[in-house]
Amino acid sequence: MAARTTIVVLAAGEGTRMRSRVPKVLHRIGGRPLIAHVLEAAKDAGADKIAVVVGPGQDKVAAEAKRIAPGARMFVQKERRGTAHALLAARTMLADGDDVVVVFGDTPLVRAETLRGVRDGLNEAAVSVLGFRPANPAGYGRLVIANGRLIAIREEREASEAERAIRLCNAGVMALAGKHALDIVRAIDNRNTKHEFYLSDAVAIAAEKGLAAAVREAPEEEVMGINDRKQLAEADAVLQKRLRDSAMAAGATLVAPETVYFSADTRLGRDVMVEPYVVFGPGVVVEDKATIRSFSHLEGAHVAAGATIGPFARLRPGTVIGEGARVGNFVEVKAARFDKGAKANHLAYIGDGSVGAGANIGAGTIFCNYDGVEKHRTEVGKDAFIGSNSSLVAPVKIGEGAYVGTGSVIVKDVPDGALAVARARQAVKKGWAKKLRAIKKLRAHKGKAKAHD
Ligand code: UD1
Ligand code: CA
Repeated sequence: MAARTTIVVLAAGEGTRMRSRVPKVLHRIGGRPLIAHVLEAAKDAGADKIAVVVGPGQDKVAAEAKRIAPGARMFVQKERRGTAHALLAARTMLADGDDVVVVFGDTPLVRAETLRGVRDGLNEAAVSVLGFRPANPAGYGRLVIANGRLIAIREEREASEAERAIRLCNAGVMALAGKHALDIVRAIDNRNTKHEFYLSDAVAIAAEKGLAAAVREAPEEEVMGINDRKQLAEADAVLQKRLRDSAMAAGATLVAPETVYFSADTRLGRDVMVEPYVVFGPGVVVEDKATIRSFSHLEGAHVAAGATIGPFARLRPGTVIGEGARVGNFVEVKAARFDKGAKANHLAYIGDGSVGAGANIGAGTIFCNYDGVEKHRTEVGKDAFIGSNSSLVAPVKIGEGAYVGTGSVIVKDVPDGALAVARARQAVKKGWAKKLRAIKKLRAHKGKAKAHD
């Protein structure tokens, strides 16, 4: 952006149509709150300053905004009296002469380039507006153009029959030249059917002052606003398509793209193979040539090159899977590290610990990490072998190259190279099977006789 620019995000709306206790802008698409998407775009657009206007008591919205844009200034709109009124809650940001771009917190798909484009409209005008042509314009403000110039935005409630027929609508993004911003917004009144201060009136005010307004256009799917759960799902569908397309463009194979759910921050390397029906929660990085097999669920996990996950694996936050390691079906991993080539191929829980390079975790192994009060760690050394159906009761360490016999309950550390067997010894009684059956039959017979008494 050329001149210094402030981006103001309006997020004080109630979002009543979401029918939720959660503020609208904290609902998520692609694993990320709506307002976070908007703020990421604001940051990418190169804003010099960012401001967020929240409603009274919306501390969680402010906290999320701070997490994404730590430098952002927060303002509270005490009463909900319209979009221009909301913008005036941040009036100090309009008073310093920097250009202002206003964007709504419920428009999560807006791109940074688009924000920059609307801002660049200020090179030729005092006000710059983003327009779009929705399939169904109901409810949107209409852009009134006369002699090729934008002269007003008419909200639907105030629009004449002829104005309602206009297809070009207000997408909600507006830039105001720093020199005029405060004057224009302060001149907006609430003489309309809703008795609200409409930011869209900025265009007519500018025209009265002899100032021009510019229009940029965006595709509908980029500026769709979210007012209810259905629109939330529709916006997520658009986002998912973007994420899949960019994963494929970056060199990942998605066997059935429409069945893979991404988070906005999912990162896949080259020649990563993703089989059908995989969910990527937030915070996942998959390096080159790794394979994520069907029905796996990953979040907060790093998968190194050439590793194989799933089918039916669950990787929870804090998981780090080393190069070429394997996590197979029905294996859950949480806050644990698998070093290079380590394996847990079937039915295991690996929580709070580490598995050394080349170690093998047998089917049914459980890291017993929780004693009901605290969590403890389990460390399995390099090249160790854990026999099937073993319980490793943390805190415990299995040494390098050690061997744990199948079905053991390990409560003490096992030194390097040792064999640990912790289970009852097997007893074999020759010929006893026949005797045992006879005894059982006799007992059953007596039982029946008694019942007839
Ligand atoms: C608004 C525009 C309309 C445009 C449409 C695009 C106005 C008057 N109308 O209508 O021209 O076509 O967006 O989606 O600007 N907000 C506050 N405080 C308020 C009122 C709203 O912070 O007092 C925030 C809301 O949180 C929301 C945004 O401003 O993020 C837009 O408000 P909303 O009520 O959804 O406006 P629309 O009726 O959709
Ligand atoms: Ca809206």
